Amino acid sequence: MKTLTNSLLAALFCTAALTAQADTASDAERAVIERGRYLAVASDCIACHTAPRGKPMAGGTPIASPVGTIVATNITPSKQFGIGNYTETQFADALRRGVRADGARLYPAMPYTAYSVMTDADIHALYRYFMKAVAPVDQATAETRLPFPMNIRTSMRGWNALFLNDKPLPPADGRSEQWLRGRYLAEGPAHCSTCHTPRGLLMQENLDLQLSGAQVGPWYAPNITPHKTSGIGSWSQAELVSYLKTGRVEGKAQAAGSMAEAITHSFSHLTDDDLQAIAVYIRDRPAIGDDQGQARGNRFEQGKAGNALAGFRGMPTGAATDEEVPGARIFSASCASCHGYNGQGTKDGYYPSLYRNSATAGVNPNNLIATILYGVERDTDSGGHVFMPPFGNQPNALNSLSNDDVAALSNYVLKYYGNAGVKVTPREVEVIRQGGPRSSLLLAARIGMAVGALLVLALLVWLLARKKRVRPINEDDWK
Ligand code: HEC
Ligand code: HEC
Ligand code: HEC
Repeated sequence: MKTLTNSLLAALFCTAALTAQADTASDAERAVIERGRYLAVASDCIACHTAPRGKPMAGGTPIASPVGTIVATNITPSKQFGIGNYTETQFADALRRGVRADGARLYPAMPYTAYSVMTDADIHALYRYFMKAVAPVDQATAETRLPFPMNIRTSMRGWNALFLNDKPLPPADGRSEQWLRGRYLAEGPAHCSTCHTPRGLLMQENLDLQLSGAQVGPWYAPNITPHKTSGIGSWSQAELVSYLKTGRVEGKAQAAGSMAEAITHSFSHLTDDDLQAIAVYIRDRPAIGDDQGQARGNRFEQGKAGNALAGFRGMPTGAATDEEVPGARIFSASCASCHGYNGQGTKDGYYPSLYRNSATAGVNPNNLIATILYGVERDTDSGGHVFMPPFGNQPNALNSLSNDDVAALSNYVLKYYGNAGVKVTPREVEVIRQGGPRSSLLLAARIGMAVGALLVLALLVWLLARKKRVRPINEDDWK
């Protein structure tokens, strides 16, 4: 009886121990998956891999690139349509080297050039998260069809050989833990550089000009180096953190376009410690810029409240010149109700002032044009829902302004509230309406292919000619 009780007790004890072990194992696994989830948010996988109103990570999102539209693929663990058959090594290669499971090269619209610095442990956590916690979606996505010669994926091998740095971040002696964490997040998962760094002829990031401002589609990602005039040198650490968390710094800037999306889906969900770390690192980058075109200080100080409408409403004479009347009229009809007749915005800052505003007082007017055409939309826990209606010809536009209208309105806003030295033409509005400037890369590649083809032809002709010339001599000589 005693032995029976003993063995029963032993068995019970064993089961308890085993369950405890299983619990710790699944606790550890849960922690890894949770870490993967956080990294997926920090890396904003969802922004590209989820179509509007589509299932999470099921892809299908068309991503406009200067050489054509690239479709983000289904990265749910669906075995047939997603990455269900990816091994962890294949997953790591896709993220850090831009190589798909079947060996084909990915286009750098997938930001593997930034993810390349991610650690093995973080890639492992992401992999576990995608395989275990993302719901599989059995649904195909449209295929990417780029124009020739960009449709040849092998060409990306050459590009990668030139521009992909797939080594981990170098050691940085004497830096604080916070700085190192900030560098890792900013250079890797949060990939600030993919948008804020200008690109060279072959679309590679120009690292000599890192973070000094670049056009991404219709929006301009401004200079965020600590330069006092061209960059954000006048921002405090706290202001930068609160911009990343809520998308606005009162009296300085509001985030629209792709930055609003990055804040909504990614940055606003990061821990305060991580946001502080990113800000420490960004504020410590080399300052790049000059004082040109900013006669009255940087874009957060320039401009003032103005009212050319008072006279204009008492037509025909007034502050606005005849040429400015169309712009003033549109301002009065479409903008003044929210931003105020003096462009001063509201006291609570919900409707921002149009002076001392990054979008109106810099040297680049593209964000003013894009804001008018596409509006502003952003959602964060601490900043709530922010919405300005679009005035382009989107289906949900409040009313449609033509290119001439937008140019006239922009010039009115720039002259009376923002950087009066900057002018907008209807042609520039059309470029932003079409999704931003096109790259000359496609042309360069086509010329490159043409030159290549000519070289091959020349080589063939030369070889043939040589054969004809050479043979008789050889025969004569050795007879
Ligand atoms: C800026 C947009 C963007 C972001 C952010 C992004 N991706 Fe992608 N990803 C793409 C595009 C576009 C493709 C398809 C590229 C192609 O067809 O060459 C792609 C392809 C992939 C593939 C290859 C799948 C296949 O077999 O076709 C994987 C895996 C992948 N992404 C995973 C991720 C993960 C994980 C994250 C977040 C850590 C992420 N992506 C973030 C745009 C993005
Ligand atoms: C997907 C592209 C994208 C990514 C990624 C991105 N940004 Fe931006 N950023 C933009 C755009 C576009 C704007 C302009 C938004 C506007 O003014 O409406 C912007 C604006 C800003 C501004 C305000 C500058 C000003 O003058 O108004 C700051 C600061 C900033 N970004 C910091 C960052 C940091 C730090 C990161 C990385 C953690 C980052 N951004 C990642 C596209 C991006
Ligand atoms: C219904 C109210 C409303 C109307 C009408 C409106 N706006 Fe806005 N505007 C907003 C809100 C809300 C924001 C964003 C505030 C934020 O991001 O915190 C904004 C932001 C802006 C910004 C800054 C965007 C950036 O990226 O930095 C500019 C510039 C602007 N509006 C110009 C205009 C102009 C010009 C018009 C007239 C065509 C106009 N707005 C009409 C509500 C409005």
